[in-house]
Amino acid sequence: MKTIKASGIGNPIDRIEGHLKVTGKAKYASEFPVENMVYAQGVNSTIAKGKITSIDTSEAEKLDGVLAVITYKNAEKLKNYPKDMTNFSLTTVAPVFQDRQVHYYGQYIACVVAETFEQAQYACRLVKVTYEEETPDIHLDKNRGKAYKPGDSADFSRGDMDAGMREADVTLEQTYTTPIEHQQPMELHAAIVNWNDGKVKMYANQQILNQATTSISETFGIPKEDVQIITPYIGGGFGSKLNVYKHITMATMASKMIGRPVQITVTRHQMFTNTGMRQFDEQEMRLGAKKDGSLTALAHHTTSHTAKNLQYFEACGNVSKMLYKTPNNAVTHRLIPLNIQCPSSMRAPGEATGSFALESAIDELAWKLKMDPIDFRIKNDTQVDMGADKPFSSRLLVECLRIGANKFGWENRKMQPGTNKKGNWLIGYGVSAASRRAPYMKTSAKVVLELNEAAVNANIKMDATDIGTGTYTIVAQTVSEYLGIPVENVKVEIGDSEFPVTPGSGGSWGAASYCNGARKACENAIAELKKKQNITESEEIEVAELLQQNNLTTFEAEGTAEPSEEYKKHSVFSFGANFTEVWVDKDTGMYRIKRMVNVGSAGKILNPKTAYGQIIGGLTMGAGMVIAERTRVEPNYGNFITRTLADYHVPVNLDLANIDVVFLPEDDKIANEMGVKGIGELGITSVAASIANAIFNATGKRMRDLPITPEKLIEAGLEPGVA
Ligand code: MOS
Repeated sequence: MKTIKASGIGNPIDRIEGHLKVTGKAKYASEFPVENMVYAQGVNSTIAKGKITSIDTSEAEKLDGVLAVITYKNAEKLKNYPKDMTNFSLTTVAPVFQDRQVHYYGQYIACVVAETFEQAQYACRLVKVTYEEETPDIHLDKNRGKAYKPGDSADFSRGDMDAGMREADVTLEQTYTTPIEHQQPMELHAAIVNWNDGKVKMYANQQILNQATTSISETFGIPKEDVQIITPYIGGGFGSKLNVYKHITMATMASKMIGRPVQITVTRHQMFTNTGMRQFDEQEMRLGAKKDGSLTALAHHTTSHTAKNLQYFEACGNVSKMLYKTPNNAVTHRLIPLNIQCPSSMRAPGEATGSFALESAIDELAWKLKMDPIDFRIKNDTQVDMGADKPFSSRLLVECLRIGANKFGWENRKMQPGTNKKGNWLIGYGVSAASRRAPYMKTSAKVVLELNEAAVNANIKMDATDIGTGTYTIVAQTVSEYLGIPVENVKVEIGDSEFPVTPGSGGSWGAASYCNGARKACENAIAELKKKQNITESEEIEVAELLQQNNLTTFEAEGTAEPSEEYKKHSVFSFGANFTEVWVDKDTGMYRIKRMVNVGSAGKILNPKTAYGQIIGGLTMGAGMVIAERTRVEPNYGNFITRTLADYHVPVNLDLANIDVVFLPEDDKIANEMGVKGIGELGITSVAASIANAIFNATGKRMRDLPITPEKLIEAGLEPGVA
């Protein structure tokens, strides 16, 4: 992609903070120089279920440099989880050491504070614990009787599912499974916490600052205003940094106890056991269609697991409520409490896994109907979200499919699997639709203008975060656009909870919300300056001249943007289509993703370069779901067997060497004033099914259990040398 020096939105400018990152000058949570700082480390349980009968900390406490060992015996009383876990959010509180119960393997049972990181680590090993151990519940199958419905929103139905199935000429009933996966951002979870005179100031890599300060204030029973979080840069989140986890609570408790700033860094091992994950999902699909391809029925039933004392559920079935025109529709979610840590949001929670099941099932049904899978999707397209009974604000799914098919060369696809061959390779083409809600939320920002000779510099402040997605850059472009100044003259200050409130980074709402908030602050600044001089709103005048006329060298304004009534009357989603070509070796089951074409309908693209990065990132994570990612649980003890990056495999560049990313021109003014829809999670939603469907087209083998490994393909019977 060509980089041009330009300002304003829509241009592919380089990241404005990029140089700081590649030169190591950008400071991450654990890197701030704080005087008098000490180090904390968590001790993890080595059983999955039971009660602590004794903890002997004496040996650890005697060690040089050790300042404190915190356990359930000396921990302060915190606000605990409510009894009724179906009615509360994982984000509310983060208590630790409140009793002797162990609910999962790796649960924190003690925290050591020492002068150095090494002393703390060593002392952790000297903490002696005995347990009254119980047999943990770690098998879904053995605990199916305990399945429950996680709240009223878990079920949905429209029409009559059974009647819809009877009406169908062709039906499909299949189950799709996806394993536990971990987010594992490059930057470990970390914090430096200073409790000073009842007030807390911390550097901590949280995606949503306003939510994190609430959570900490609730947990410790202190006013929210007394909690400050600073995080100018975050080295990836993917949902793992949405919630306040217990390491934050441990460090806060420790700082309060010993009166010094405390640094804590969660280890890579602990990133598997203590900072969330995607849960195992078992999705049963039931579909029926008429001979002409029109869907008559669609059901999506998900069974998954949650923790014993906490609830999270991945709404896999939501995609089946809205993506296709289905007169009869049923969606359910059931959870089984297990002695495994509570799952959490992982990039496109629900849609990433739900779309794998739905878009595989759609491909299967198209095959049964002997219909092209693109034609089948177009046949069932809808401009109305039937699940919410609202029109979509914009939806170019059909165009994504058609334009993508053309670019990809879909006409060269052979309908009959196993018929496109080159030597040992079986070649297959796959397609899948992408969809993800593109929310927009109330966002505030403050802009400070400074006149310097004839140039205006602007400083924008908001409690937004940049989790590696490009927030700095798109906010700078927005300010440059709405003030009419070069992007170089814009300074973006984010990542401080004391700045004006935003919804933070998560759920694909960051870009639309942040930029509209920044826009509003700039528009207010100009309007206020014009008003002082009785200049009409429509008159075009440079911001520098406005300041001069007002005889001002500096001026500040605030603005808050929020969803319109029109927004609320519509369903706002980003859409897309992914096309994949795979080559499968018929003897070994090894396969290669040869190329991909990905087309998006995602509103106005603020910066094609960062948007491209977002989609590539989503596609890579989605390809990871298919080719490698799987967290294995030890079947007797309930610990994770895969808990380093050496055995939890993720894709590398060579796995996705050839990807074409296209965005259709779109400007969705219902979504928000700037026409922007989110893309952070869009990429991941289509790719797993697209690859699996391509593997079917190559081999004739339908793979319904992720990841699709060579041994599974061999087991499915590639018949070495025969196919
Ligand atoms: Mo996202 S899974 O809301 O960071």
